[in-house]
Amino acid sequence: METAAIILAAGAGTRMKSKKPKVAHEVLGRPLVQWAVCAAEEAGADRVIAVVGHGREAVIPLVEGRAEVAVQTSQRGTADAVLAAADALADFDGAVVVLSGDSPLIRPETIREMCALRAEHDAAVVVLTMDLTNPFGYGRIVRDGAGEVERIVEQKDATAEEAAITECNSGFYCFDGRALFEALAQVGSDNAQGEFYLTDVLAISRAAGRPVLAYKTDDAEQCLGVNSRGQLAEATRVMQRRINEGHMAAGVTMWDPATTYIGPEVEIAPDVELLPNVMLLGKTVVGEDSVVGPNSRLTDTRVGRGCRIDETVAVEALIDDGATTGPRAYLRPAAHLCEGAKAGTHVEIKKSTIGKGSKVPHLSYIGDTTMGEGVNIGAGSITCNYDGVNKHATVIEDGAFIGSDTMMVAPVTIGAGALVGAGSTITKDVAAGALALGRAKQSEIAGWVAAHPIEKKK
Ligand code: UD1
Ligand code: CA
Repeated sequence: METAAIILAAGAGTRMKSKKPKVAHEVLGRPLVQWAVCAAEEAGADRVIAVVGHGREAVIPLVEGRAEVAVQTSQRGTADAVLAAADALADFDGAVVVLSGDSPLIRPETIREMCALRAEHDAAVVVLTMDLTNPFGYGRIVRDGAGEVERIVEQKDATAEEAAITECNSGFYCFDGRALFEALAQVGSDNAQGEFYLTDVLAISRAAGRPVLAYKTDDAEQCLGVNSRGQLAEATRVMQRRINEGHMAAGVTMWDPATTYIGPEVEIAPDVELLPNVMLLGKTVVGEDSVVGPNSRLTDTRVGRGCRIDETVAVEALIDDGATTGPRAYLRPAAHLCEGAKAGTHVEIKKSTIGKGSKVPHLSYIGDTTMGEGVNIGAGSITCNYDGVNKHATVIEDGAFIGSDTMMVAPVTIGAGALVGAGSTITKDVAAGALALGRAKQSEIAGWVAAHPIEKKK
């Protein structure tokens, strides 16, 4: 049987106190709504439909290409939100999973288990429930004398007796699609909030004689909905722990998992060591035996094997096997350190290749540069790549030695094995093997200091 997933993501999320719609807020670099899309995909949904409304111009780009989009023009309740997907599912005859766009922690296997239970009993609906010591705010599961699910009552509509129930509605469901849309047509808004409640579908389906089931989970954490910044931080902490535990189980060492933040798409090989205060984000990959940290942030960066990445910020950089960076290196997009290369302390590299074994150890800026193998760049050297309008290229060939405090004014080429004297400003190409000096000649006047005593001001 086919499965469609509907992600409810039209609400405003006023408690976030944000100009951004709630579902655009991120957990470990991935927007909430994308976590829901991923859960639906991983659970095996054949179709995913995101219901958007509030702030949809910001939400649609986050799901485009991965989910169909249905628009709920005014937010009249969760039943109305599901109805917004009715047109898209007009010819659909299968199971419909409903997920909240603000609940990033749901486990795909839980969704699969709910769907299996629904199919087994040909139930109209299976609702995911959990027992909470503090159920305030959640819909409560009302069961009959035989223990069967009768209906769900919302907090604001609950009697004192109902409010004492600890079994709560998680907001995740698996429905029989046809039964769902039939029942939705009967949902009214005669309740404390004047809204159309999706939860009313349970009582309606039961009255129609179809089985209505609850699937209770012991892992209530996966049901956490994000309604506030506090809950956003809590969701981040839970997901951080889950991801870190996965990497540790796969052979990654972490000195301090609590200060290690790894995005969901990051790949880390076994025997990598992560020191405190490390963020690995986007599609970053770290190869075997590399050590990263402390205090490093790598985004969309590929690190090879046996690298040492110390206090480094890298964005879209390539760091090949055995290369070392930092402390305090900044590698910007298209910085490429080849095997065994070094970008040392207070070094910034942008759109440049640093050849095999080449070293930029201290206080340098290298941009738009192609550097060969075995090059040494002296402390404080800069490729002057920008004339205020255009960027220009620098080429430094194999084995060149650049003295400290050299300005290489691009476009310029330093030939293989050339030697540039310290303090030079290089504005013309240097031939292979030549010595280039581009600095003022030193002059000296003997005894000058004694002949010019400085008198102290009175
Ligand atoms: C809902 C459930 C409640 C459950 C709780 C779990 C109903 C009536 N109540 O309550 O039983 O315990 O979730 O978290 O369903 N949304 C729309 N359009 C709307 C209204 C909501 O897209 O018109 C979206 C929201 O953006 C959100 C989700 O639906 O992602 C849930 O809505 P929310 O208002 O947060 O429902 P709760 O009051 O939390
Ligand atoms: Ca909610």
